[in-house]
Amino acid sequence: MTVGQAGIDWERLWAPYDESTYKEVLTWVHPQDVVLEIGAGDLRLARRLARTARHVYAIEIQPDLVERGRRAGPLPNNLTIIVGDARRLPFPAGISLGVLLMRHCRHFALYADKLSAVGCRRLVTNARWGMGVEVVDLTAPALPWEQVGMGWYACRCGAIGFVPGPPEALTPALEATVHQVHRCPACWPASRQPLAVNR
Ligand SMILES: C[S@@+](CC[C@H](N)C(=O)[O-])C[C@H]1O[C@@H](n2cnc3c(N)ncnc32)[C@H](O)[C@@H]1O
Repeated sequence: MTVGQAGIDWERLWAPYDESTYKEVLTWVHPQDVVLEIGAGDLRLARRLARTARHVYAIEIQPDLVERGRRAGPLPNNLTIIVGDARRLPFPAGISLGVLLMRHCRHFALYADKLSAVGCRRLVTNARWGMGVEVVDLTAPALPWEQVGMGWYACRCGAIGFVPGPPEALTPALEATVHQVHRCPACWPASRQPLAVNR
């Protein structure tokens, strides 16, 4: 786990999210989905995911949280709990939807790659923007960094940002668009960046 400057392991902090966050996540779940929730805490969301999805796998690293969740009542038959480190454990095959609610996540790229490797196409998460949730299309092509012009970007590595440009070029459409990129400056050293072509 990554420990911050204040000695706090932010990734391990557990706190329930607000109801609107859970509701937004749940709107993306279909009855045929096999869901993998990464960092399931006390299973409160996993239980709700299991009401809609065909099957839910819930991975949580802290056994005491899982134990608290088990004590909350009988678990649905279509919920499989996996206690351990999602960075190291193999992900089950056939996942169609990943859920990652972890605002301080430092391993977004790892989780996105592991989900893609087991055939998962969609990831519902707050890990990149830290507020609300987005649905990441794990199959969408990501633009090479040098092709991204002015505007918002979100990188496969988990970094987000805004490529600046002349204020007069900023349109509402540009403001509302997020370019999916890979090899941004946060994950790819400047020395390896090709020259930008359109900024
Ligand atoms: C902010 S909480 C969210 C819990 C749950 N998704 C919810 O909304 O109620 C993040 C959870 O991720 C767990 N976690 C952090 N790193 C993990 C890892 N590598 N493997 C499994 N769980 C992890 C933490 O222990 C914590 O319970």
